[in-house]
Amino acid sequence: MYICICRAIREREVDAAVRAGARRPADVFRACGKSPQCGSCACDMRQRIADTISQEQAGPQMLMAAD
Ligand code: FES
Repeated sequence: MYICICRAIREREVDAAVRAGARRPADVFRACGKSPQCGSCACDMRQRIADTISQEQAGPQMLMAAD
C-alpha cells in the first residue's frame, strides 16, 4: 500500500528507511531519493514510522520473554 501517492512510496519502503535509521518523514524521503510534494502524507508517514519503531523495539523483548 502506498503511504505517499505523489512520490509512490510504499509502506515497505518506509519500513526499510526506518530500519536504516529514518525517524522523520524528511528522512524517509531522503532515504528513498525523493522529495515531498503536497505533504498530505506526513501524518500517515509519521504514524508508520512510529509503528515500525515500536515493532522493532518489541521484537527483542518478545524473544527474551520466550526464553
Ligand atoms: S502524498 Fe506524499 S507528498 Fe503528496
